[in-house]
Amino acid sequence: MKLAVLGPGVRAMGYSTKRLIEEAKTAGIKTEHIPILEVKLVVNDKTDAIYGKKSLGKFDYVLPRIDSKRAGIGYPVIRFLDLLGVRKPYSAEALRIAHDKFITLERLAFSSVNVPETYLTGSKSVAKEIVKKGRLPMMIKLLSGYGGQGVMVMESKEAAESTIDTMQTLHQQILIEKFLKNPGEDIRGIVAGDEIIASYKRIAAIGEVRANIHAGGRGEAFKLTPEMEETVFKSAKAIGARICAVDMIESKGRPSVLEVNINPGIQGIEKVTGINVAKRMIDFVKSEVKS
Ligand SMILES: Nc1ncnc2c1ncn2[C@@H]1O[C@H](COP(=O)(O)OP(=O)(O)O)[C@@H](O)[C@H]1O
Ligand SMILES: [Mg+2]
Repeated sequence: MKLAVLGPGVRAMGYSTKRLIEEAKTAGIKTEHIPILEVKLVVNDKTDAIYGKKSLGKFDYVLPRIDSKRAGIGYPVIRFLDLLGVRKPYSAEALRIAHDKFITLERLAFSSVNVPETYLTGSKSVAKEIVKKGRLPMMIKLLSGYGGQGVMVMESKEAAESTIDTMQTLHQQILIEKFLKNPGEDIRGIVAGDEIIASYKRIAAIGEVRANIHAGGRGEAFKLTPEMEETVFKSAKAIGARICAVDMIESKGRPSVLEVNINPGIQGIEKVTGINVAKRMIDFVKSEVKS
């Protein structure tokens, strides 16, 4: 079997990509690292995705590691791999959905997964109408935020309105979301195929709503309830990803999904759970190629 790990170049490569390549090699798989920015796509009488002199169509499996920095080129590259019929954990369409928080929520809601009531509008006045009718506190999120960086809790309607003005000035698209009362814990399940290969929770620092590690949160091993497991599987299926992480908070005794991460980092969860997450992902890849 020939595997390509498609992601950042050697210098930009993080822990997760390195670990996946390492585990694939340990498993005896012929593995090549392909920097996604160096892939050449061609449309002509033939359509191809080429790295160096080799078509990516020659690989038995492509494992993408596409972060939001490389999402622009990620979509067309994955689309070409779809056309070439290469096996991989998700299609270009799934990538497009996952990189858009709002469309992700729409897909989840469509599949009967609980999500917080969320609004998107291009109009400042419509956004202010939503705020006027909404209950406090409320969340305003940057559509393209990650790591907790674009997430704000609004304690007053005045604060929400001035945030809307500011974001419009900065040309930032925002979401307005209902605040879900929760214990300050963000629960994550990582899916590989039909299995949840690891799960943990992040606990927000005191006085902080966001449970992200970058926002001062800390990780702890956590076993999902059967209801959470079902939610995780439904969510992965809803966006069409065979490998992904599903993030939930528990509010009023039921899980609500906040986002699906199609490019989950594995450093934090490996450390906290002691599970070899990279190996489990590679085991899944092996089983996919065999089937
Ligand atoms: N609707 C909400 N109600 C309560 N807490 C929320 C809500 N949305 C987000 N949070 C908190 O903020 C954190 C970051 O939000 P999230 O949507 O996951 O953005 P990011 O992509 O930046 O991680 C979550 O992990 C959670 O702790
Ligand atoms: Mg999050």
